[in-house]
Order: sequence, then C-alpha cells, then structure tokens
Amino acid sequence: MDLDWKNLGFTVRKTDYNVRCVYQDGKWGARETSTDDHLSIHIGATCLHYGQESFEGLKAYRGADNRIRLFRPWENARRMIRSARGILLAEPPEELFLEAVEKVVLLNSKYVPPYGTGATLYIRPLLIGTGPEVGVRPSKEYTFLVFVMPVGPYFKEGFKPVNMLICRDHDRAAPLGTGHLKVGGNYAASMSSVSDAHEKGYATAMYLDAIEKKYIDECGPANFFGIRDNTYITPASRSILPSITNKSLQVLADSFGMKVEQRKVPVEELAQFEEAGACGTAAVISPIGKVVDEEMDRVYSFGDGVNPGPVITRLYQTLTGIQNGDLEDTFDWTKILE
Ligand code: PLP
Ligand code: COI
Repeated sequence: MDLDWKNLGFTVRKTDYNVRCVYQDGKWGARETSTDDHLSIHIGATCLHYGQESFEGLKAYRGADNRIRLFRPWENARRMIRSARGILLAEPPEELFLEAVEKVVLLNSKYVPPYGTGATLYIRPLLIGTGPEVGVRPSKEYTFLVFVMPVGPYFKEGFKPVNMLICRDHDRAAPLGTGHLKVGGNYAASMSSVSDAHEKGYATAMYLDAIEKKYIDECGPANFFGIRDNTYITPASRSILPSITNKSLQVLADSFGMKVEQRKVPVEELAQFEEAGACGTAAVISPIGKVVDEEMDRVYSFGDGVNPGPVITRLYQTLTGIQNGDLEDTFDWTKILE
C-alpha cells in the first residue's frame, strides 16, 4: 500500500470493504461484507429525521512485530449498547460488534498503517434507524455497519500543545440529556461552537456544565484531565461521554503512584494545574497549552506552550506503547488479530 502515512490527517479515505448487518422483524440478520461505500435507505428513515443513530470510534494498531492490535474493543461494544438503550435503537450484541470489527480490519489489513508512522486504522461502527417513521417514534428496522480508514492525529498539532476556547454561549448537551451517550445529536449540537473556536484559531471548544457554567465538562471530541500535586484529576458530570482513553489513563496514573480524582472541576482550578490535556481515541492525548475564557477575560497557560509536560509525556508513551505492543499489556487491554 503506497500512502503518505505520515501526513494522512483525520479525514475520510476509501478502503476496500465494510461490514453490515440489518435488524428486521425483531432480530439481527446475517453479517454481510460490502465493497460499496454508499447505503440505500428509505427517505423516511428515523436516523435521517430524528437523529436516531449512534456511532463508535476505535483504532487498530500495527506493532513492530507486524501484528495488528485492537485496544479495549469490548468497551466500545458496551458503550454502543448503552447508547442504543438510551435512544431506543436495537442493541447490537457484543459478539456481533466484536466480530464485525475484527472482520473489517482483517479484510482491510493492507490499510493498517506501518509501525512507527504514528498513523493508525480508525474504525467507525455505526448504528442507525433505517425504517421509515414520520411520527417521533423508534424505527422498527436498524442497520449496524463498520467501516475503516487510515488516519493521522485528530488535532493537526499531533502530540504538541493545543489551545482551547471556553464556550459560554452554547451547550453540547443538557444536564439530563444525551451527553453521556455517543449519539449524533450531541455532535450536531457542538458544530457551531467548535467551528467558532476554529475560526478564532483554537483547536476546539471547551464545554462547561450547562446549569451553572462553573465546572468543566469536556473538550470538543475529547475528555479533559489536569495534573497537580501528583494527582490526575478529571471532571465527573452526567453530560460527559465516558472516555475509554480517560479510563485507561486513570489506571496508568494510579500505576505510576499518582492519586486519581474524578470530581467536579471548577473552571478557576485551571490556574492550579501544572499540566492539562484532552484525551480520546482520535485525539489520543493532546497536551493543552492554553485555555482562553474570553468572557471572563482570563487565560490559563500550562508549561512552556511548546513541549508536553513530563507526566503527560509519560502517560502518552505508556498508553501508545501498550497500544502498539511495544510495552507489555499488563492490564489485558489489547486484542491481537490473527
Ligand atoms: N468525548 C467525546 C465527546 C467523544 O466523542 C470522544 C470520542 O469517542 C471522547 C470523549 C473520547 O472517548 P474515547 O476515549 O472512548 O474515544
Ligand atoms: C473518537 O475519539 O473516536 C471520536 O469518535 C471522536 C470523533 C467525534 C472524531
């Protein structure tokens, strides 16, 4: 495969196969392989009108041993099941999810980027209501599909500090809404504020709690964490998407002998963090250089703004080391595809 692996960006790129499965008459049908990047669905499908859809994001990593690894894919399967329960989609069984992911990666294995390029194969499972309804009610038919594409880092800076803009005039999720689920509506709700942040030169928007605008929720498509006094601190909030990367970093921080706190994080506490980062599958870890709160006329800076701090660097190296297979997988997080 002849691709410019080091400069892929985070964009859609054609690969050879996707895998699909349809839910009809109360049951999931057979898994099918397709070479078509398009889908033909009824124009009244509930995913189109009422956002009845959920997606996931995980990656396949090629090791120095040339083997392909998945990172905690069962966590993505379980999160999709939670999303499905939340917005009344048919639940794809965990085995269906895992088998479809493995199958599509193996079918497209030539697109899993070579070890050492920093690129990975991004895997996008999608679950949509494909049956027509004009009243607001759940579809009777669903399509679950998985497609893949080789990608570089989500934030073009890669493992370099990025700047974020606090968003005070928009919420991505309501306090008792769907922020904790991976459903399309949350992302539609985030587009104008993220685009506003981009236009002003920031990597993304940082969201605050929707009730008081006092506490940090999350950063665009990634969770927030801060480091102070040998403690890893990350916000607790019902409207945050529970990140598998964040959960893994908490385990790693604990294994380094750090304290781990998941609690409300007031915006002003940013002034006390020695290091700050955004984490997620696509973002991996993005060190944060600056958080700007325009309305409050405050700027919070971390480190020298050019180099990632020491704790974040250690977390990054350990996480990616396990994902690539360079480090021993002591937590049983990876699944090697044969
Ligand atoms: N927060 C949001 C809103 C996301 O879309 C994602 C990506 O899935 C994350 C956080 C990070 O979650 P994970 O680490 O499971 O990819
Ligand atoms: C991921 O990190 O996998 C995500 O799904 C974020 C995404 C919205 C690009």
